[in-house]
Amino acid sequence: MTAICVANNKGGVGKTTTAVNLAAGLARLNFRVLVVDVDGQANATYALTGRVHPVPSLYDVLVGDRKLETVLWKTNEENVWIVPGDGRLQNADVEMASRPGREWRLAKALYGQDFDYIILDTPPSLGVLTQNALAAAHRVLIPISLTEFSLIGMDKLEATIEDLRDQLDLYDLEIAGVVATFYENTTTANETWGILEKKFEGRMLETHIPKNLDLEKAHRENESILSFAPNSSGGQAYMQLAREVKRLVPAHTRPYDRRRSTHSA
Ligand SMILES: Nc1ncnc2c1ncn2[C@@H]1O[C@H](COP(=O)(O)OP(=O)(O)OP(=O)(O)O)[C@@H](O)[C@H]1O
Ligand SMILES: [Mg+2]
Repeated sequence: MTAICVANNKGGVGKTTTAVNLAAGLARLNFRVLVVDVDGQANATYALTGRVHPVPSLYDVLVGDRKLETVLWKTNEENVWIVPGDGRLQNADVEMASRPGREWRLAKALYGQDFDYIILDTPPSLGVLTQNALAAAHRVLIPISLTEFSLIGMDKLEATIEDLRDQLDLYDLEIAGVVATFYENTTTANETWGILEKKFEGRMLETHIPKNLDLEKAHRENESILSFAPNSSGGQAYMQLAREVKRLVPAHTRPYDRRRSTHSA
C-alpha cells in the first residue's frame, strides 16, 4: 500500500481531476485504489459517485469518532473505492486546531487498510486538512497548471512540506513529482514549463496533461475520463500518468502502517 497526496495550495490547477483520473488509471492497471476526499468542496466525491456532500463522511472520522470503514464506499469505477468528503470539512481546520495530534487523525484512521494505492485529494489551502493528508502520505504529487500565474505561491507549498517533515518527523515524505496540467502548445505554456524544469530539476513528470474539455464533461457525468472518453487527449494522458506513477512510486504489498513516529512530540 502506497499513499499519494495530490497537493497544491493554488486553486483550480487540476488536483481533483488528477486524483480521480489517476485513481481510475491505476485501477485499470489492476490495482485496488482508495480515494480519500480531504476537501470540503467534495468534488472528488461527486466526480466518482454523483453524490453531493454525503453525510456521514470523512468529517465524522476526523472530527468525530466514526470508524473509517463505515464511510468507505464503492465508486462508479471498478476497483476504486472512496472515503467521501462533505461541506462540513470546511470547518474542520478550526474545529481540529486545538486538538493534540491533530495532524495524525487521518493516518491513524487509515491504519490497516489494505489497498494497493491510496490517493488523497486536498483543498487549495495549507491548513490542518492538508497537513493530515501530507502526514498520511508517502509521496506528494503536485499538479501545476501551465498558465502565467501558476508559480505564485509554490514556495509556500514546498516550505509547508519541509516544515511538516521536521515538525512531525516525516523523514520519508517526498515529492514524487510535478505534473503539468492544462498544457497547450503556446509560448506561455512552454516558457512556464522551462521555468518549472529548472526549479524542480529531475522531478518533472514526463506526462503532460493537456487542456481538454472532455475532462470537465466526464466530471459532470460522474465518470472518470477513462470510462467517459478513454481515447480523448485527456484520457490518454491520464493513462500515461498512471503508468508513470506506477513506475516512480511502486505499490507496496503490506497494509497501511503509517503512524506518528515515536520520536515526535
Ligand atoms: N486538463 C484540463 N483541461 C480542461 N479542464 C480541466 C483540466 N483539468 C481540470 N479541468 C477543469 O478545471 C476545473 C478545475 O479543476 P480541478 O477541480 O481538478 O482543480 P483543483 O485543483 O482540484 O481545484 P480546487 O483547488 O478548487 O480543489 C474543473 O472544472 C475541471 O473539470
Ligand atoms: Mg479540487
